[in-house]
Amino acid sequence: MEAPAAPHNPSEQNPHGPHEPAGARRTLELTVTSAEEMLDLGRRLAGLLRAGDLVMLTGELGAGKTTMTRGLGEGLNVRGAVTSPTFVIARVHPSLGDGPPLVHVDAYRLGGGLDEMEDLDLDVSLPESVVVVEWGEGKVEDLTEDRLQILIARATGDTDDDVRHVTLTALGDRWALADLDALKD
Ligand SMILES: Nc1ncnc2c1ncn2[C@@H]1O[C@H](COP(=O)(O)OP(=O)(O)OP(=O)(O)O)[C@@H](O)[C@H]1O
Ligand SMILES: [Mg+2]
Repeated sequence: MEAPAAPHNPSEQNPHGPHEPAGARRTLELTVTSAEEMLDLGRRLAGLLRAGDLVMLTGELGAGKTTMTRGLGEGLNVRGAVTSPTFVIARVHPSLGDGPPLVHVDAYRLGGGLDEMEDLDLDVSLPESVVVVEWGEGKVEDLTEDRLQILIARATGDTDDDVRHVTLTALGDRWALADLDALKD
């Protein structure tokens, strides 16, 4: 027996539902074929970001989360090289211009989540910063409903392969009007 046809979905034309502007993409999937391309994606993503934004980077060890953040730092024109914050949970990169600072968090060792985040004593206002969190899932969602979640996955289980699939998902009102399509080359 054939499966029943899927019921007609009235919001089909605009997958974001009737209340969101048509054309604004909330999800974007990209294929990135080299570390240099990932840097470039980060640089371009910086152009969409503003103070108060939270970016959550998800992906296995070595997926390219820090590489993308390095590109973000370049695009935001902040001071200091973005590296894996091995001995610190968070690092603040002040702007070299008049843009927002970049707060780069490695939540891998952040056991308690949000409370610890606030206890970090970062000497910077998170709402006035662009906050990028690696390994933040389950820990920083309470900070804001508005966030950009970026999943970086290797093409296959092949660890030598430089190909990455990047899925960006924009959540919350903040992103309702943002057009992720701007990130396509
Ligand atoms: N397409 C690609 N995108 C990003 N990095 C790539 C790509 N291809 C190869 N690489 C390499 O993979 C490594 C990614 O390391 P990176 O520190 O960015 O990963 P990570 O996700 O932050 O890891 P961790 O979970 O340990 O923090 C780098 O050595 C980078 O040069
Ligand atoms: Mg990293």
